[in-house]
Formats: sequence, structure tokens, C-alpha cells
Amino acid sequence: MKTKIAVLVSGGGTNLQALIDAQGSTLVSGEIALVVSNNPGAYALERARNAGIATAVVTKKQCGSQAAFEEKLKEILAEHGIEVIILAGFMTILTESFTAAYPRRILNVHPSLIPAFCGEGYYGLRVHEEALRYGVKVTGATVHFVNEIPDGGEIIAQKAVYIQPGDTPEVLQKRVMEQAEWVLLPQAAEKVCAQLQK
Ligand code: GAR
Repeated sequence: MKTKIAVLVSGGGTNLQALIDAQGSTLVSGEIALVVSNNPGAYALERARNAGIATAVVTKKQCGSQAAFEEKLKEILAEHGIEVIILAGFMTILTESFTAAYPRRILNVHPSLIPAFCGEGYYGLRVHEEALRYGVKVTGATVHFVNEIPDGGEIIAQKAVYIQPGDTPEVLQKRVMEQAEWVLLPQAAEKVCAQLQK
């Protein structure tokens, strides 16, 4: 039996797409059984539907509080028998009451080499803006386990990407995705799912 994965998303879902495309090649020990978004308009939901994957939408607004939001998420994940959770551009912080329920079973992809340009407030394009502002010559992506500290869990994999003269945040974001995130995330997902089956 494959490990059942839920992918949590908020936006475009290119990392979700990389996971979908990796099924049957890089990703063989796990299968994406559910995609959950906190944004009803996320294009990632469309990608899931196109791949025939079950979807759910849970918003903080609809739930009324962070605690109720996290309880609802847990309920949906349990209903689908989810064993591993992948945060792929999920732009909301999860507190300890959620993360402690899935020790070493939640993965996140972050678009920098942690511990640089990470933690609360560092998400999406902002990470690349800050890397360029600082003037680093090398950045990259990190896949790590999620605990109660934002971007603070154990690192599973990292890949470096060089900054080029004239890079804009958008150009850099695309290079980091192509060269690092879309490669690393399916590999890390496979590693974690395979270990759970031992
Ligand atoms: C990705 O670059 C991901 O690493 C980043 O948001 C983007 C989502 O793109 N996540 C964070 O910054 C989390 N702190 P996608 O929706 O196309 O996968």
C-alpha cells in the first residue's frame, strides 16, 4: 500500500504539479490522495481536479478562528486516511496544536537555503526580493520537516542555485523553482514515504 499524501496549497501550485508529474517515476512509495487549499480561487485546485485528485477548501474566515481552522483540517485529513502532509506554497502558519499531531510527517518546501531568508513573513516572491537586496551570490531551496517554529524543522534536502547578474525577483523565483524546488520536493516526498513503509 502506498503512503497517502495530502498536499496543502494556496496559489498557483507548480510544486503540486511537480509532485503529480513525479507519481509513478520519482514518487512511487506515496500517492497524492487529497489537495487542500485555504484559498478557494487557487489555480492549484484546478491542477488537482485535472489529475483526478480529491480536493477540499478550508478557510480561516469560514472556521472563525485559527484553532477551529486547524481542527477542521485535521478532520478532513483523517477522513481521507492521510499519513503524510506536504505544504507546497501553503501561505499560512500552522501552530503547534496542528504540527504536534503529525511529527516528522509534515514537509514544507521553502525557496531559500534555510537558515537564510526564512521564518515568519518570508514567503513567495518576498524571499527572492530579500536575497537580491542582501546581495547573496547563491540561493536555492530547502525541503524540511515542519514543527512549531516557522521554517525551523529538521532539514531533509537542499539544493543551491546561482544568482545571475541582472536577476529580478521574478526571474530568480522561476530559476529556483525549475532548478531546485520541482526536483527536490518529489525526491524528499519519496524519501519520507519510503521510510514510513519500512
Ligand atoms: C514556492 O516558491 C514555494 O517554495 C513558496 O511559495 C511558492 C509557491 O509556488 N513557499 C514559501 O515561500 C513558503 N514559505 P507554487 O504554488 O507554484 O508551488
